[in-house]
Amino acid sequence: MAGLALIAALQLPAAVPQCATCHPTEAAAHSQTRMAHALVPVLDSAFARNLPNHSLSESNGGYSFDYRVVGQNLAVTTVRGLDEAQGLIRWVVGAGDQGQTPLVETRAGIAQHRVSYFPRLQRYGVTVGDDPGASANAEAALGRIWNKNDLRACLNCHATSVSSDLKSFTPGVQCLKCHPGANEHALGHGTPFNPGKIGAEAQVRFCGQCHRVADAPGGNALETIRFQPLRLMKSKCFASGKLTCTTCHAAHHDALRNDAAYYNGKCLNCHAGLPHVRQQKAGNCIGCHMPEVQLGQTLRFTDHDIQIVKAGVAVQK
Ligand code: HEC
Ligand code: HEC
Ligand code: HEC
Ligand code: HEC
Ligand code: HEC
Ligand code: HEC
Ligand code: HEC
Repeated sequence: MAGLALIAALQLPAAVPQCATCHPTEAAAHSQTRMAHALVPVLDSAFARNLPNHSLSESNGGYSFDYRVVGQNLAVTTVRGLDEAQGLIRWVVGAGDQGQTPLVETRAGIAQHRVSYFPRLQRYGVTVGDDPGASANAEAALGRIWNKNDLRACLNCHATSVSSDLKSFTPGVQCLKCHPGANEHALGHGTPFNPGKIGAEAQVRFCGQCHRVADAPGGNALETIRFQPLRLMKSKCFASGKLTCTTCHAAHHDALRNDAAYYNGKCLNCHAGLPHVRQQKAGNCIGCHMPEVQLGQTLRFTDHDIQIVKAGVAVQK
């Protein structure tokens, strides 16, 4: 498997002062976010921690999956009868909110593992986008092989400072990803890019490099539900020119969950005067205007296209 391995976690060169020396508050807050942990060493993942002590298996008499700790990694064997294949997992994608998907090093290249763990549902299942049922053979059961460009895209959204051979990277979305120029700045040269100092649309598009601004292939509205920048830009609120990601999500923090009062406050900043709004002040604005939408069997996302929702329609436009 040598030559295919996704190995090193890159450290800052020793000569560059760490951001935390001068920005302790931002560094401490950011280290607690899911973005900072969007790629995790396998043994730190919920995927590895929750494995049962029996094999997992596909439905309809398909392949079974056996996992075994080898040093800091997890070896996986897929088997049905005499057909068997092996792979090695070092990294798992996803911080563990809704889904975690391992990357598997196989004989044929690096694959997105066919099995994911869904922490909110507390169960293992077929990775989103893969067909359920039995795999064609043991190699296919390990997962879908990614070509180098797709793998690069995957790492560029879930890791930082990815080298061109993809062998070294800092896991997670770290400072330099949002503040280009910060290393030079840390050495005393210039001011880094600050996404808080650009216009609303520019910031939405900046976050949209990863959170996405383009329609899903085929324009399937339901699939775009996880593309918050694309959805937000469809809303009339966005047309105000003042609404951006950091209006509702403080930098260096996760999204606040189940906090109606916090989000009501954001809406009221622009809508306080309307009779309807005065009447609903104690209600939950996002519950009616930014509902959660189920995507497939395993994921849920918040519709960022703020609008008047019609009952019984999953995705409005
Ligand atoms: C030696 C101290 C020092 C180090 C190390 C340092 N900074 Fe700064 N940083 C500052 C000071 C002082 C300011 C405010 C003045 C300025 O804008 O340059 C600042 C400002 C910033 C700003 C705001 C820029 C703006 O336009 O509002 C960002 C973002 C930032 N730093 C990020 C970083 C990151 C990321 C790192 C690590 C790669 C880092 N800094 C390392 C001292 C430091
Ligand atoms: C380099 C890619 C990248 C960029 C740039 C980026 N994000 Fe993210 N973001 C991610 C990934 C990946 C996750 C998923 C982390 C996970 O749960 O594994 C995420 C998750 C989030 C979450 C959800 C965290 C939670 O509560 O679970 C919020 C909110 C968020 N990002 C906001 C932003 C904002 C605002 C910006 C722009 C200032 C931004 N992101 C820029 C990749 C990125
Ligand atoms: C264009 C950027 C981009 C690419 C490419 C990308 N992701 Fe993500 N990924 C995100 C963002 C943004 C999120 C957070 C929002 C969401 O879940 O859609 C995320 C979330 C996830 C999650 C966590 C879901 C959750 O909410 O818990 C997993 C697992 C994941 N990605 C796996 C992958 C894998 C595996 C690859 C590549 C083989 C990949 N992603 C490629 C941007 C990207
Ligand atoms: C996902 C993108 C993202 C990442 C990663 C990120 N920041 Fe920021 N940072 C922002 C945004 C957005 C702002 C602007 C906040 C605002 O103006 O509301 C900001 C602002 C700052 C500022 C200026 C002070 C302020 O709060 O306005 C500093 C300093 C800073 N970040 C340091 C860091 C350091 C250090 C890290 C790594 C530990 C880091 N940031 C990681 C998005 C990010
Ligand atoms: C930065 C200001 C701003 C913020 C913050 C904001 N909105 Fe808006 N919103 C607007 C503007 C401007 C319009 C368009 C008004 C019009 O067309 O009369 C609008 C329109 C709407 C509409 C009507 C949409 C339609 O399709 O007719 C709804 C519903 C709405 N907002 C709800 C909300 C909710 C709920 C929140 C908080 C989650 C919110 N808004 C936050 C500025 C904002
Ligand atoms: C008007 C307020 C508002 C704005 C603006 C906003 N968000 Fe959100 N966001 C929310 C709410 C509300 C949630 C769900 C919180 C909960 O789970 O209780 C959320 C959740 C998320 C999540 C977690 C996954 C999900 O869909 O539930 C991500 C990622 C995210 N937002 C990214 C972004 C990005 C990127 C932007 C800018 C394009 C943005 N948000 C702008 C209100 C907002
Ligand atoms: C119980 C669901 C519900 C809640 C809670 C709710 N809305 Fe609405 N909202 C609606 C419906 C339905 C409409 C369509 C007009 C109508 O029937 O009154 C609407 C219309 C609107 C409009 C368009 C202008 C208007 O008055 O018709 C805005 C803006 C708006 N809501 C903002 C808010 C804000 C801000 C909050 C939180 C303080 C909120 N809504 C809470 C259901 C709700």
